Amino acid sequence: MRILTAILGALFILQSCQDQPRIGPDGDLSAFSYYPIAYELEEPSRFVKMQAFEDNPLTKAGVALGRQLFYDPILSRDSTRSCSSCHLQAFGFSDTMQVSLGIENRKGKRNAIALTNLGYHYTQFFWDGRVASLEEQALIPVEDSLELGNSWEEVEEILRKHPTYPVDFRAAFGIENIAEIDRHLVARALAQFERTFVSADSKFDQVLKGEATLTPAEERGRLIFFDESEVLPSGECAHCHVGPLLTTLTFFNNGLDNTDGALVDVGQESVTGNVFDRGKFKTPSLRNIALTAPYMHDGRFTSLEEVIEQYNKGGHYSKNESPNIRPLGLQDQDKADLIAFLHTLTDTSYLERAELSNPFVH
Ligand code: HEC
Ligand code: HEC
Repeated sequence: MRILTAILGALFILQSCQDQPRIGPDGDLSAFSYYPIAYELEEPSRFVKMQAFEDNPLTKAGVALGRQLFYDPILSRDSTRSCSSCHLQAFGFSDTMQVSLGIENRKGKRNAIALTNLGYHYTQFFWDGRVASLEEQALIPVEDSLELGNSWEEVEEILRKHPTYPVDFRAAFGIENIAEIDRHLVARALAQFERTFVSADSKFDQVLKGEATLTPAEERGRLIFFDESEVLPSGECAHCHVGPLLTTLTFFNNGLDNTDGALVDVGQESVTGNVFDRGKFKTPSLRNIALTAPYMHDGRFTSLEEVIEQYNKGGHYSKNESPNIRPLGLQDQDKADLIAFLHTLTDTSYLERAELSNPFVH
């Protein structure tokens, strides 16, 4: 009886193997089913609803594919680096380097931007705002010689010949043949995954929902940050780092350097060609700011203390420095309280969310 069961079992396995769809000899994928299922993004009630991305709607298979690609060193020339090498979940999808390291430890030019709530940024990505969409942004690191150092032709070839990716591309985008796998589908999948990077559960979010309370030091820091006290000095921070995203998403010269003369990095001027934009950079979100040191586009400050010191001095004057950057007159206690408040912007659930973690590690 036992032998019979074993034989039947073996036959069954053989049968089901034969039933498995296969990639056709000419790369045909039509044997695999394609049933796109919408990805239901959980959106925080305090956020304005995310715009629909009609040419790249979120699907379960698309987000899953983007997650794999984000973590897969297959995109880099020597299979050593992936998007996640510079955007680490434990550090709010930033890294701990002054400037990021690409393949062969090549030094990049800027500090990695922490990635949060990217689905609510509709344009102007990068410190200088040079790309218009996440789809466009995702094309860049692969061919940046200081980042993944690869060529798209190479990546497309490897993905088409890969044992599992073609089926995943079929599930995500309904392609009929492996030849349709290209850089634009990779970028669309990465963008879908990145739009699920929603972070809205820091202590400060909980306070706004009435679920937590700030300590007296944190509350004093909050009053300074939002200029809400008659007694404490105003920090002016919320002119630029404000709203659920903790950024206006606009560009400012926040006084890091005197921008009237030559600069190592001219920031937004390199995109607009307008000298008035010299030294202006995208205002970063302050979510998870306690974890994303070093700070600023060039990673020049290693601690929040140094950042506050710089703002307190009023930065370096130049013609296009924002008028909200001025000597603040913060005393030691004010600075400490402001930093205590900045620590309440850490969203630990975001750093631990399984759906955003490396799918290759179990
Ligand atoms: C070698 C390190 C490195 C790698 C690899 C890397 N990034 Fe980045 N990323 C950076 C740096 C540095 C910046 C800021 C660059 C700039 O502004 O010029 C950045 C900026 C971004 C931004 C802009 C965020 C914003 O708020 O404007 C996005 C999105 C992003 N990266 C996604 C990705 C994706 C997707 C990949 C993989 C395809 C990737 N990165 C690979 C270092 C890296
Ligand atoms: C006029 C707008 C403006 C004001 C006011 C302002 N910031 Fe900023 N902040 C910026 C910009 C722009 C950057 C990025 C500058 C760069 O990297 O060149 C920045 C960067 C930062 C960073 C580093 C973020 C990172 O990811 O590297 C921190 C921290 C910060 N600001 C905190 C504050 C605090 C605290 C205050 C109030 C004391 C404040 N800011 C006031 C615009 C502003």
